[in-house]
Amino acid sequence: MQSSLHLAIIMDGNGRWAQLRGLPRLAGHRAGERALRRVVQAAPDLGIRTLTAYAFSSDNWKRPPAEVSGLMLLLETHLAKQAEVCLRHGVRLTAIGRRDRLPDGARRAIDDIEAVTRGGARLHLRLAIDYSSRDALMDACHKLRGHPDRQAVSDSLNSPDVDLLIRTGGEQRLSDFLLWECAYAELLFTQCLWPDFGPRELDCAVAEFRRRERRFGGLPNGVSGIPSIDRNSVIQSRG
Ligand code: FPP
Repeated sequence: MQSSLHLAIIMDGNGRWAQLRGLPRLAGHRAGERALRRVVQAAPDLGIRTLTAYAFSSDNWKRPPAEVSGLMLLLETHLAKQAEVCLRHGVRLTAIGRRDRLPDGARRAIDDIEAVTRGGARLHLRLAIDYSSRDALMDACHKLRGHPDRQAVSDSLNSPDVDLLIRTGGEQRLSDFLLWECAYAELLFTQCLWPDFGPRELDCAVAEFRRRERRFGGLPNGVSGIPSIDRNSVIQSRG
């Protein structure tokens, strides 16, 4: 029986995918949206129960206004279209990140899909939108009093530990995504551009994850510890 996974994905490479085809960047984001749909459908059969996808970081507001508004519109239409698909596939969709800076249409689309899909039990899809992990941590800490322990911070974040983080597009960094939750995540970086990532790539990534040994700071399986030292033999061997 395979354990259930929390997979986090940094969907990078949409712009380059479009550029390689002589298309505008937004065409890359549209292809990225299709890739996400394919991955969401394939995820539950691979034992993934929670999938957090980085759709828009708080630093993405720095992009040109046309790209930002195109992405916001894409999000809104994606969410409107996905409600029925989520219901059919047992997906609960929620958003993490700030909502107060989103256009009204996108905010309403999030509220609607969260309400409609709240009974979904096969997969929890979390879209990170206007998300910054540092900001989320600061907010969580502000809510806590005294000297909170790790569990209290985790509870306040209301965000489970990540088992596997995949970043497509060749860069090897976390870009302010789930920093606390990734403390012991297995990291997998691939050159594959996000729009080219599909069920086959996901399958390979999960298989690679299952081959890894997670030690959480402990010792490898089968190693019981440092053998007790025979002080006499140490002293004798000095001579
Ligand atoms: C990074 O690629 C990707 C983003 C900033 C946006 C991610 C959005 C999507 C995958 C599609 C929209 C998602 C939904 C849920 C509607 P990049 O543009 O930085 O690529 P580049 O590094 O090649 O320029």
